[in-house]
Amino acid sequence: MDAKIIQLPKIQDSRGNLSFFENLNQIPFIIKRTYWIYDVPGGDIRGSHAFKESNEFIIGISGSFDVVLHDGVKETKYNLNRSYFGLYVPNMLWRRLENFSTNSLALIVSNIGYDKKDYIRDFDEFKKLKYEIRK
Ligand code: TYD
Repeated sequence: MDAKIIQLPKIQDSRGNLSFFENLNQIPFIIKRTYWIYDVPGGDIRGSHAFKESNEFIIGISGSFDVVLHDGVKETKYNLNRSYFGLYVPNMLWRRLENFSTNSLALIVSNIGYDKKDYIRDFDEFKKLKYEIRK
């Protein structure tokens, strides 16, 4: 499955709204790990790497930020600014998170545990691997 925005259920209530996602239901994998990025100083960029195996789902729980995905040929920018929208990011996409608003909170779930060997941190190496996959 390609990267795509997934709209989550939003249970509207005068007491406040509620959204959720479940393994293999709203998201196409089983969650092994959850992490979140917060208190990002204005102008800073997170990410700038690809994952060999990790598939992720990124939600802009609060505030606003951009997720920029590069598939080795072209770049696509997604703005996450609602608690009920998430971005599915499959493995082997170069990604960076930027343009964080004050107090923004990025919640990220992954199908694998943390493994530093899963990271590709060199963009040229990433492009080479993508090219080999396409061949
Ligand atoms: P990193 O993934 O490089 O951050 P980002 O992509 O958001 O810029 O992770 C930063 C540090 O946090 C790095 O030293 C590894 C550690 N880390 C964990 O220990 N567990 C995790 O699940 C994640 C995502 C990072």
